[in-house]
Amino acid sequence: PHDLNCLTIAELAKHAELRMVKQTRDYYNEGADSGSTLLENSTAYSKYRIRPRVLRDMSLIDTSVSIWGARNSVPIGVAPTAMQCLAHPDGEVATAKACKEAGVTMGLSSFATSTLEDVASGLNGHPLVLQLYLFEEREHSRKLIQRAKKAGYKAVFLTVDTPMLGRRNMEIRNQFELPKPYKIANFVDDSTSSASEMVMGGSTPESVQGEEKKSTSTKGYYDRKIRQAPTGPITFHTHAPNPTLSWERDIGWLKEQCSPEMEVWVKGIATAEDTYLAVRHGVDGIVVSNHGGRQLNGALATLDALPEIVEAAKGRIPVHVDGGIRHGTDVFKAVALGADFVWIGRPVLWGLAYKGQEGVELCLRLLSDEFRLCMGLAGTVKVEDITKEYLVKIDKSGF
Ligand code: FNR
Repeated sequence: PHDLNCLTIAELAKHAELRMVKQTRDYYNEGADSGSTLLENSTAYSKYRIRPRVLRDMSLIDTSVSIWGARNSVPIGVAPTAMQCLAHPDGEVATAKACKEAGVTMGLSSFATSTLEDVASGLNGHPLVLQLYLFEEREHSRKLIQRAKKAGYKAVFLTVDTPMLGRRNMEIRNQFELPKPYKIANFVDDSTSSASEMVMGGSTPESVQGEEKKSTSTKGYYDRKIRQAPTGPITFHTHAPNPTLSWERDIGWLKEQCSPEMEVWVKGIATAEDTYLAVRHGVDGIVVSNHGGRQLNGALATLDALPEIVEAAKGRIPVHVDGGIRHGTDVFKAVALGADFVWIGRPVLWGLAYKGQEGVELCLRLLSDEFRLCMGLAGTVKVEDITKEYLVKIDKSGF
């Protein structure tokens, strides 16, 4: 049955807009700086057109794919987005129930407003992924990883595009804060304490001390290489960004912590070079992402980055993509360009704002129905059949 008030993701965005307060709306919808990468994530899809094939018996279409040992009804998952209680009081728990209902996997943000245990309970092993911001004080991350293992999460997605937080001007102007009574649920009892430690990204303790001395005498506060590890309560703004993360030091550590129960993926890959490194460091998969245009504005749209990454991965690890996907035909195009799977961010938040769990189900149903219809009209009955032969790139973009 259709919701006659809402037949497209664009209509869902409008409904959500009316239901969210300004602070939430801006926080969810904004991109970094001018927002050009946010926009291009979507418009990149219009540079490709589909070459449909006909007379192929489309009576039996299978849209499903296998992921983490389970069938996913479509090659679509729900991307991790922070603080979903802002959209609806049921927050991440409602999103998870909708995912189970739709047969799609869900990524839970470290900065969720529900605990990872609450989200997992009642899902009966339905696949979940924990998105990780690896903190400078690793003990907190270690504890979180252990909890995720225990709760049956299949993988962690280490977000790697946030050494610093991107510049989001509406968020700054609104002085965005999580309103009471909501909490960053996974860390309610935690706070970090390395108050007086000076740290420098990627350096040895000796060189840190050397720099520290120099800084107090000559360079002081304005030496951007010297910085203080965050302290106090764990909040998104203080603890999500971690400029010290590196391939050498952190990926091996993370794999040790997660194995053997959980896979380690990196989310936020944008180049072939980093794809080679991801393979070399033994990650289980990558997500091509620019954080929904919220980090480096001016970065390539993810669909435009995808081909070089698929080529570099050479099938050795799975390649997923997110950013700007607003229609089932976008899913088809991403898969045709070599993505094994896609993740959806904002449209799910809009669904949640519109009608809680039911709204997320609606969002997933719209995208799934559109994807299925696209497969049928393009002449493909299996997801594996969707290849770049089905696409042509055109010169002008525009819808
Ligand atoms: C995000 N995203 C994100 N990513 C992440 O790794 N951890 C997080 O906590 C968040 N939080 C978050 C909040 C909000 C409001 C948005 C919009 C996005 C990024 C997210 O996982 C994904 O990469 C993008 O949302 C995908 O782009 P679309 O589908 O929103 O265009």
